[in-house]
Amino acid sequence: MRSHPLIIANWKMHHGMSDTIKFCTELSRSALPTDVDVAICPPFTVLYTLSVVLGDDSLIAMGAQNCHFEDHGAYTGEVSPLFLKEMSCRYVIVGHSERRQYFAESNSFIGKKIQKLLELDMQPVFCIGETLTERQSEQTFGVLEKQLKEAFAEVQADKAQLKNIVIAYEPVWAIGTGVTATPAQAQEVHAWIRQWLVKQFGSDLSQSLKIIYGGSVKPDNAKELMSQADIDGALVGGASLRSKDFCAIIHNSKR
Ligand code: PGA
Repeated sequence: MRSHPLIIANWKMHHGMSDTIKFCTELSRSALPTDVDVAICPPFTVLYTLSVVLGDDSLIAMGAQNCHFEDHGAYTGEVSPLFLKEMSCRYVIVGHSERRQYFAESNSFIGKKIQKLLELDMQPVFCIGETLTERQSEQTFGVLEKQLKEAFAEVQADKAQLKNIVIAYEPVWAIGTGVTATPAQAQEVHAWIRQWLVKQFGSDLSQSLKIIYGGSVKPDNAKELMSQADIDGALVGGASLRSKDFCAIIHNSKR
């Protein structure tokens, strides 16, 4: 039997304190299904606010959008994964295409973060994806393989820890553009990723790893995307900023 779908909100650099409180108040008015796992990754500065408004017994988990791979050190402006763990963050997005593009994050740098998060028993949400030019020149699988291979070269975790990795396939051309990969396009890539994982780690582990899709997921396309055999959830940017849309995506993801 398949596990619950996992729907993660990536708020990016949106929603300060008052918007976070407003969002959660609105969300608390709707009953969320218990068979969908939900997480919100807000900006660092509202993690505490979010934890307070959600409350201790919330079904919604918290995550962060980035972290460093060291516990402490002279890294001005960075955030330690230990601090995030202390805040009860369960997930941390790593390797988002915006971080690769604007902050020059390399695959091995991303791999070090994955290793660190696994050591801390946290769940890295490891983003990979090709640009439009790469897709058009039929380099999609080559690009994904390089991203996976170079990042996993930094990971020495055992199988029990590896199962905490969530892979997010986010075609760069679909992020924030309103253009979604068709369910068939997304499924093709997810199945390829699953096969790559089978080759590296064997089929048991690969079946239990979640591979989620991101890129213009909305209430009206969530159902069809989530019904694909290898799509285990969604990483939602723009549509996760509106409580009504986020809630509809969660409901439409139910299997
Ligand atoms: P989007 O963003 O849903 O706005 O396309 C997804 C993401 O960047 O994680």
